[in-house]
Amino acid sequence: MIEAERLMLRYPTGKVALSGVSLRIEPGEFVYLTGESGAGKSSLLRLIYGGVRPTSGSMRVHGLDMRQVKETKVRELRRRIGIVFQDHKLLFSRTVFENVALPLRVQGWTTERLIPRVRKVLEYVGLADRLWAYPEALSGGEQQRVAIARAMTANPPLLLADEPTGNLDIDTARLVLDYLVGLNRQGTTVIMSTHDLHLLESHPARIVQLHAGALVGGAA
Ligand SMILES: Nc1ncnc2c1ncn2[C@@H]1O[C@H](COP(=O)(O)OP(=O)(O)O)[C@@H](O)[C@H]1O
Ligand SMILES: [Mg+2]
Repeated sequence: MIEAERLMLRYPTGKVALSGVSLRIEPGEFVYLTGESGAGKSSLLRLIYGGVRPTSGSMRVHGLDMRQVKETKVRELRRRIGIVFQDHKLLFSRTVFENVALPLRVQGWTTERLIPRVRKVLEYVGLADRLWAYPEALSGGEQQRVAIARAMTANPPLLLADEPTGNLDIDTARLVLDYLVGLNRQGTTVIMSTHDLHLLESHPARIVQLHAGALVGGAA
């Protein structure tokens, strides 16, 4: 699903965020991406969804060469990737329904078709009764569960979660992790960055560790 060879990313500021990263991730895996703040976790996830392009080396995602691929192909790729961020990025002026519906709205789904699908993914995260609420009426943990529902809406084969539990208490964090693990058991490849090592103990899985932009473990 993901193949990187001697991947290097230098930002326009000159900062080298990643260098010499070689990594393979197979379909169906659950992978933790760990490392200190500034280690390059978000940068690696950004490379995977085409938010930035590799400076050198190679990177293939779903068979696409991420150095050469055209922007239109990147947009297509993104429809097959669900993304959850630490600060969830929900739209506060829209209902939970509209937030979760968004990935399929952009694909032209009508409201009639959307309602059962949105209800189903909200049921998965235990929030089907909050369909018409606004995000500000929800707790931080509930908002993050809505963000997971939104990332699932289009049923993507790959889900990237960038410190999705960073702002949550430990019980809520475990719950969020449980949802991601459940999705993985249904076949979704999940890559989750975290620096919360306690969390990893509740669901042991492959750990890919970055330090100062280089891999220090878990490459194979
Ligand atoms: N847009 C950017 N422009 C320049 N430097 C950046 C940018 N984003 C991140 N960096 C730098 O790249 C390094 C890796 O950052 P990041 O991938 O965010 O690490 P992590 O997610 O592990 O905390 C850091 O030194 C950070 O300051
Ligand atoms: Mg980060």
